[in-house]
Formats: sequence, C-alpha cells, structure tokens
Amino acid sequence: MRIISIVGARPQFVKVAPLSWTSQGKYEHQIIHTGQHYDPELSSNFFDELRLPEPIKNLYSGSGSHGNQTARILVGVEETLLDLKPDWIIVYGDTNSTMAATLAASKLGIRVAHVEAGLRSFNRLMPEEINRIGTDHLSDLLFAPTLDAYKNLEIEGLAKRSLLVGDVMLETLTYMKDKIVNDSLASSEKLFVTIHRAENTDVKERLLSIVKRLSLSSIPVLVHAHPRLLKKAEEFQIDLEIGSIKIMKPTSYYSTLKGIIESVGVITDSGGLQKEAYLLERPCLTVRSETEWIETLEGGWNQLDPDLVQIETTWWEKTRPPINTKLYGDGNASQKILDAINL
Ligand code: UD1
Repeated sequence: MRIISIVGARPQFVKVAPLSWTSQGKYEHQIIHTGQHYDPELSSNFFDELRLPEPIKNLYSGSGSHGNQTARILVGVEETLLDLKPDWIIVYGDTNSTMAATLAASKLGIRVAHVEAGLRSFNRLMPEEINRIGTDHLSDLLFAPTLDAYKNLEIEGLAKRSLLVGDVMLETLTYMKDKIVNDSLASSEKLFVTIHRAENTDVKERLLSIVKRLSLSSIPVLVHAHPRLLKKAEEFQIDLEIGSIKIMKPTSYYSTLKGIIESVGVITDSGGLQKEAYLLERPCLTVRSETEWIETLEGGWNQLDPDLVQIETTWWEKTRPPINTKLYGDGNASQKILDAINL
C-alpha cells in the first residue's frame, strides 16, 4: 500500500510529522511538498527539526492569488499522482494545498484521507473555511481531532466516513515538550504574538488598529512576523516597530513552543497556536470573532478578542482551572489514522 501525504504550509509540516514517524518500518509513506511555503523559516527548518524525510517531489508552486496558487498546485499534484500512483493520499487542515490536492486525487479515483476534518468557523468569508468544507465533502476518510469536529461532520451527513481519532498536533507537541521544558527559562514579562490572517492583515484600517493596540501594551510584545504581515505593513506604510512592539523572524517549531513557555501569554490569529498555548498552559487572546478550536475557550484559557480589549487588563493574571489534554485524544492519532487507511 503506497500512501502519500501532500503538504505545503508551515502547520502542515507539524501535522505530517507523527504520521511520518509512526509509518517508519511499517508502511510505505512519502511526502509531496507543494511549495506553498518556501522560505526556510516556514519550510525547511521544520523538516530538519521534526526529522522529516526529504519530499519525494517538490512542486515549487510558490505564492499567488487564491485561484492562481490553487490552480498551479492542482496541475502539479495531478501530474505527480499520475506518475507515482499512490493508493491513498493524506491531506491536512485547510490550506490551498489541501484543497487542490484533494480535487486532483479525487478526480483521478485516488482515495483521500483528511486529517483534521470537521473544523468549522462558520465564516465563509475565510478562504480556509471554503477549503475545509470542500475537502471534507470530497474525502473518503475523515479524521476528526475533537468531539466537536466529529459532531460537525455528523451534522453535514458525513458520519459514515468519519472517525474521531484525536489531534496529531498533540503528538508532535508531546514529542518536543520534555526537551523544551528543560531548556526553557521561567516565564517572563512578555507576550508571544503572531498575526497573519488575511482578515487582519489585508485591510489597512484593521491592521493599523491591531498594531496600535499592541504598541500600547505595558507588557513587551514580541511579534514573530509572518511574511504576509511584513508585506502588508510595507504596502500600507505602517510602522510595525513602535511602542512596546519588537519584530522578530517567524520561529521554528521548537522556538515557538519555547517562546510560548517563556511568555506570560499569547496573542494570535493562528489556529495551531491557540491550541499550543492551551496545552502549554498559557492564556491566549485570539484576534478573531470565531475559533475552530472551541475547547480552548473552556476555563477561560483562550478568549476571542478581535479588538484586543483585554490586552491592557489583569486578564493575563487570572487563576484558571487545570487544562484537559484529553480534549485532543490519547496521543495516538497517527496510529489510528494509519490503521484505518490500511484496513
Ligand atoms: C496559509 C494558509 C493558512 C495557514 C498559513 C500558515 C491558505 C489559504 N492559507 O496562509 O490557512 O494558517 O498558511 O502560515 O492556504 N510568503 C513568503 N514566503 C513563504 C510563503 C509565503 O514570503 O514561504 C508570503 C507571500 O507574499 C504570500 C503570503 O506570504 O503571498 C501569503 O502566503 P500564502 O501561502 O498564500 O498564505 P498564508 O498567509 O501563509
């Protein structure tokens, strides 16, 4: 049985890692890199750190508008799948790489497994929401990371093809955690911040208001800047390094987790980081009006705060109940996924 994972963007390298480790010596598993992300900080650094094998093929698709990028990946994936003839492909999350790979494979009659299925923001203005819905409805096997995600699949009539397996990101985090906790300093007065979603970066007034709120924080704000943020700030002539803000490069996975542990809290619009903050027991303000990871809101660990109203309050110091890692399964999602595919 030949299984090929198709990934292209930073969070997907984190998600494919446990599948790659678990399949070693047991299943034929290879990786196609679409090239959606190509800067070393967003791509090759993750392959090195997570001990991922060299992709069997890199499509070097690069950046572009949604239609342009999705179309180039679609063409590249189709050609490659015709050549490699896998039995299954595995796709992850909600990126343009995921949508394009799913479309190419399903039309070729190659079975598709979707890892992180069933997440919904219920906001169709998000390109990721369109990608998730399309991918879920075309896939042959749907692997839900949480009970809420599984329920969303049930509601959409997809229960027969769905399995609740837990979250693969919990496995990657667990693999790194002990070493990072040992290496980390005690948490200190700083906030770990990332902003990269189109809804926050691509409208000048919106980006300006976020930067203003961050700059006024009494706690130093370390912004790990995604290239999209830098590009848009330059285009709108917004000075990012003002007031409390210090701009840093995007961090590797190891440095991201270490940065979270060493902070008093996280401010982000990333899905993965909301969950990582929760699992590392740091409070998180999410700069959005909705979240796909609603379990993180339990106990007040995560709060939706699109206008960063809470940044200047004592919100960070609140006492919170213990976290519940079981919300993300038992840490064996990758084995369950490979077992189901190999049935
Ligand atoms: C993509 C995903 C998003 C995910 C994010 C993780 C989609 C629709 N969105 O968003 O769900 O949360 O990845 O980071 O697929 N760029 C570089 N270097 C790179 C890659 C991108 O400079 O290596 C710049 C380019 O100017 C590009 C912009 O970043 O136009 C956006 O990149 P893109 O891959 O289109 O979307 P992301 O915002 O990264």
